[in-house]
Amino acid sequence: MPRYTNERAETDVSISTLPAGYYTSADYFARETDRLFRRLWLFVGRDDDVPSPGHFVTKRIAGAEVLVIRDEAGTLRAFHNVCRHRGTLLCTEAAGQVRGFVQCAYHSWTYRLDGALHRAPHMDKVTGFRVEDWPLVSIPLEVWAGNVFIHLGDPSEPTPSFRDYLDGVDTTFHNWRMGELRTVAIRTYHLRANWKLVIANYHECLHCANAHPQLVKLSHPLSGDNEPPHPTWLGASMDLMPGCVTLSTLAEPTRASLPGLDAEQRRRVYYYAMLPTMLLNPHPDYVVTFALNPIAPDRTDITCHWLMHPDEIARPGFDPGDAVEFWDVTNRQDWALSDQAQAGIASLGYRPGPYSNREEMLAAFDRWVIARVGPLQELGAGFGTRE
Ligand code: FES
Ligand SMILES: [Fe+2]
Repeated sequence: MPRYTNERAETDVSISTLPAGYYTSADYFARETDRLFRRLWLFVGRDDDVPSPGHFVTKRIAGAEVLVIRDEAGTLRAFHNVCRHRGTLLCTEAAGQVRGFVQCAYHSWTYRLDGALHRAPHMDKVTGFRVEDWPLVSIPLEVWAGNVFIHLGDPSEPTPSFRDYLDGVDTTFHNWRMGELRTVAIRTYHLRANWKLVIANYHECLHCANAHPQLVKLSHPLSGDNEPPHPTWLGASMDLMPGCVTLSTLAEPTRASLPGLDAEQRRRVYYYAMLPTMLLNPHPDYVVTFALNPIAPDRTDITCHWLMHPDEIARPGFDPGDAVEFWDVTNRQDWALSDQAQAGIASLGYRPGPYSNREEMLAAFDRWVIARVGPLQELGAGFGTRE
């Protein structure tokens, strides 16, 4: 695949950051919800979050209450977590396990794990009522290499192809065999920043020398390549320093590289964004996934999974702490800057500023957003006028 450098030889001062409204306007966020979050596949977690029948996770995302549950046959399913009687939320825990059925707390309508309505008390004298007509409303779900995606599009329209959405990323990361990896840690973070600032932060390392002293010792911030932007993803990589085998808090980490990686893949860390809600961060010996949940223009929740190989997990004394700690520290440094960026952009004095020639990916991401969501000016007077 052709690569392009992360440094453009020439750029132009007119290529600048976006006006504040893109990050602060509730109307623009609503439009993003409609045109991005309900039209693209959304990464919501890993399939081992729900390891066996009856295990479930719930998530409020893009205005939907989502229930991801494993049915009795072992199939992973997603439903709107909403009772078909009078609309009450069904599962109220973030995660848990039910035995055989999901029961509404209000009037005990009871659903099987495949979503079929099993029992509906006090409906026997309702003419025309049949339990088979009132299953939970299902949500399209796909699993790629253990990564769970849902689609919240209009059910009256065909669901876009998941293969088209992946657009070759599954081939790029085939050698990591992520489907075989297991979650060794999960952390959730609550940011006071727009989701786009998180993606922008992820796709440049000009801040790394200031923000991440532990990272720049292991991976040179100006190293690596960017891929040409794709319709559904952005991709980049950085090289490990000579003698460094992975990103870790340990001076000499001992985890083996994942089996199947070639020599180049063992020397790099990859930074991909499956737009709009997944950051994918494969290392030689582990993978970190980031599930973004845009809550409001200035609120984003992020859940990170650390994935490692079962052979490592089975080793006596296995401890993933060095990788978890490394990224937990790095994440907190990034989230603090993202929150700080939001605070400045949301304030009276903000004006768009020029991008560096090493921030081409960010400008490409801005163009991607505007191409899909539309320019702020379409929302009318009062937005984006402060330039
Ligand atoms: S609202 Fe769920 S049973 Fe009535
Ligand atoms: Fe960073």
